[in-house]
Amino acid sequence: MRIVDLIEKKREKEELTKDEIHFLLNEYLKGNVPDYQMSAFLMAVYFNDMTKSELFEFTSLMRDSGDVIKFEKINKFLVDKHSTGGVGDKVTVVLAPILAALGFGTAKLSGKGLGHTGGTIDKFEAIEGFRFSNTSDELVKIARKTGIGLMGYSDKIVPLDKKLYSLRDVTATVPSIPLIASSIMSKKLAIQSDVIILDVKVGDGAFMKDINHAKELAKRMIEIGVGAARKVKVVLSNMDEPLGYSIGNANEIIESIETLKGNGAKDVKEVVYTIAALALKAKGEIKELEEGYKKIDEVVNSGLALSKLKEFINESGGNGNLVNDYSILPAAKEKLEIFSKNNGYVAKIKTEEIGKAAMIIGAGRAKKEDKIDHSVGIKIFKKVGDKVEKGEKLAEIYYNDEKNVKNSKEMILDAYVLETKKIKEQKVVLEIIE
Ligand code: URA
Repeated sequence: MRIVDLIEKKREKEELTKDEIHFLLNEYLKGNVPDYQMSAFLMAVYFNDMTKSELFEFTSLMRDSGDVIKFEKINKFLVDKHSTGGVGDKVTVVLAPILAALGFGTAKLSGKGLGHTGGTIDKFEAIEGFRFSNTSDELVKIARKTGIGLMGYSDKIVPLDKKLYSLRDVTATVPSIPLIASSIMSKKLAIQSDVIILDVKVGDGAFMKDINHAKELAKRMIEIGVGAARKVKVVLSNMDEPLGYSIGNANEIIESIETLKGNGAKDVKEVVYTIAALALKAKGEIKELEEGYKKIDEVVNSGLALSKLKEFINESGGNGNLVNDYSILPAAKEKLEIFSKNNGYVAKIKTEEIGKAAMIIGAGRAKKEDKIDHSVGIKIFKKVGDKVEKGEKLAEIYYNDEKNVKNSKEMILDAYVLETKKIKEQKVVLEIIE
């Protein structure tokens, strides 16, 4: 078998066999396929897609390139929730304690933020002393105790994804539905769970800019999951404005805690409640999602969910008292207020722009190696549909270093698109696919 023939086959839109896919990926993993050949193959996939069976084989092999984590002796229904990435996306921080309070276990790999999107690891690492499990033994120990099993990606889990993603990043092949689907699902299949719930973000701040592409991505991921005999549910959620009001790391932890105290933003709550209700339904505890909302309200209102977060922070090396004392979290030294230059209604918030405005003051990374400042961030005061008067506050920037603050301010002002007519409030959960 020759790699060049496999590239040619994909170029000519012919279906590769299981053996051919195995050969390509195994040889690549061993270092026997040069990056220029793999790049050509990825570009052929970008243009010509993969068939259902190609995609399943490709994803299964990616999973098998590393360890598979089993949560032995955890007698809980395990939920693996995954977001395709957004701005202000603090859903995991709120959801995992709620699921724990409802008797579930969360079992998931979390990522770091890159580009305009944030990552759960960075948010928790804003807590002094907090350390993510980096071995599966440690993960299982904490998950057994708290019901929350979050682990950072390691080189041992789906190493092939790391290699392929780096190559995609520099060959303009990231935004390919089959490549995104296999990248995400290989990591989902590498973790034992009872249900996989995918939060596919749609809109300006997301990978998938429109609902049709998002639906296609969801369909391909469900097909892979079903092929592997896994239960997969999808929530398509809006990323045409940041989720909630805070964008950053320490400030998103505070917003998450406030949500667990019942004071959260409507959109954050809606996404979290929908996913938690889907978990209850997958477990067979409820028939309709609405029945779940009452149960979720109970664990929030009783403070049980918040106590689960506190326990998880304590077990992970942080000081859980921060749930009632935000001064334990790092805070930026300076604040810049941004005021509207016009009257109107917020018609649109260019969400990617807001994510980048947070990134350039240090809340995120332009490149994987960049260091971030957990204390800095942005708070927005107006969401889509809100009325704004000239001179009214649109946002605040929290920063330590003057550099880029002016740019960040300009980007935020540019991101707010005002119109004279009132715009309907945005729907957050756009669709649920079960
Ligand atoms: N998230 C991933 O894990 N992989 C992709 O390719 C895109 C988003």
